[in-house]
Amino acid sequence: MLQGKKILLGITGSIAAYKAIYLVRLLVKSGAEVRVIMTPSAKDFAPSLTLSTLSHHPVLTDMFDEQSWSNHVALGRWADVMVIAPLSCNTLAKMAQGQCDNLLLAVYLSATCPVVVAPAMDEDMWHHPATKDNLRKLESFGNRIIPVGKGELASGLYGDGRMAEPEEIIQFLTGNFFLTRPLTGKKAIVTAGPTYEALDPVRFIGNHSSGKMGIAIARELYRRGADVTLILGPSKADVTDNGIRVVRVVSAEEMYQAAGKAFEKADIAVMSAAVADYTPVVKADQKIKKTEEHFSIELAKTKDILKSLGEKKKAGQVLVGFALETNNEKANALDKLNRKNADMIVLNSLNDAGAGFGHDTNKITIFRKGGEEIHFDTKPKEDVARDIVDTIIRVHYA
Ligand code: CTP
Repeated sequence: MLQGKKILLGITGSIAAYKAIYLVRLLVKSGAEVRVIMTPSAKDFAPSLTLSTLSHHPVLTDMFDEQSWSNHVALGRWADVMVIAPLSCNTLAKMAQGQCDNLLLAVYLSATCPVVVAPAMDEDMWHHPATKDNLRKLESFGNRIIPVGKGELASGLYGDGRMAEPEEIIQFLTGNFFLTRPLTGKKAIVTAGPTYEALDPVRFIGNHSSGKMGIAIARELYRRGADVTLILGPSKADVTDNGIRVVRVVSAEEMYQAAGKAFEKADIAVMSAAVADYTPVVKADQKIKKTEEHFSIELAKTKDILKSLGEKKKAGQVLVGFALETNNEKANALDKLNRKNADMIVLNSLNDAGAGFGHDTNKITIFRKGGEEIHFDTKPKEDVARDIVDTIIRVHYA
């Protein structure tokens, strides 16, 4: 994943420095070459012997020792990326000011490679306007900031300020600087958003789907090299990304026609739309007047797009469906996997906080044909999209 990449890891004085040990291990395991620089106070939090053993290189702290001078310019030029994790409030302030009283800061100031920081601090420090100002300054220098997480803090308080987990830092690096494009040359289609089933010229039966999940999947497929067609129901989202072909549809029937046509040439199809299951049998030409005391509408089943693609699926085509469930989640997801001949079903349960319609986050489990079941944490929909596309790549294109 990070094979041959040169990563300069700066560690500052923060309790979260213990996580840097695991980060070094993961980076080396992913094939990266790692050099560690610590600020003098970081040594109180993480043993340099452990770090040098794991990174296979001496840990650097001082500008000079009795024998030599650490060439900070050469280090900054050697690296493909400099990661400062954890970044303490103190080092953040010094970086924002351009101060240079230790080796880490000297390397930072002379680094020509991209710089990524993972701050770690107590909640009140994190929310202080001075910290916000300093972070904005770093952003204005082009540095990238990996957001802090919420959780138990060194002070014993609970809140914002935890350093991102080592896995998240790796994901950030692979997703931003060392992104591979294994889907180059592949065609992908994604359905997203709700459908509206017209009752008359002014009324419809619809649902609350925002289309955000499917749009994030389309973007991630595109980022990984695929040629993407997004078949988007009447969502409020405006997708004008260069490179993504958007086909706007309104009804389930229109989505069925568009998806069926695009699937003929597709390698990957992800059906994330919340398609109406039923549509009015009669669509009135004129606005329906409220003349009746009771009024019923006859509904007929719509065509199941995912199922119809599953029936036509040829060898080599990858078909991914979604299941939004409120009960018997696993059984229902597995039933959809088999019945619709999909390769994967992405389950979101409405029983999980932060999952489903309207949220910016989602919590999913992927069920694969063959029995694999992969659980993920609650994450922003962009990260969920990455997990889904990573799984498609791992299983079908690695
Ligand atoms: N789906 C579809 N066409 C439909 C209905 C659903 O392509 N007419 C797709 C969805 O995009 C999703 C999957 O089928 O990928 C599952 O949708 P869901 O609404 O959870 O399941 P249904 O098959 O409609 O079954 P039920 O409503 O009984 O749970």
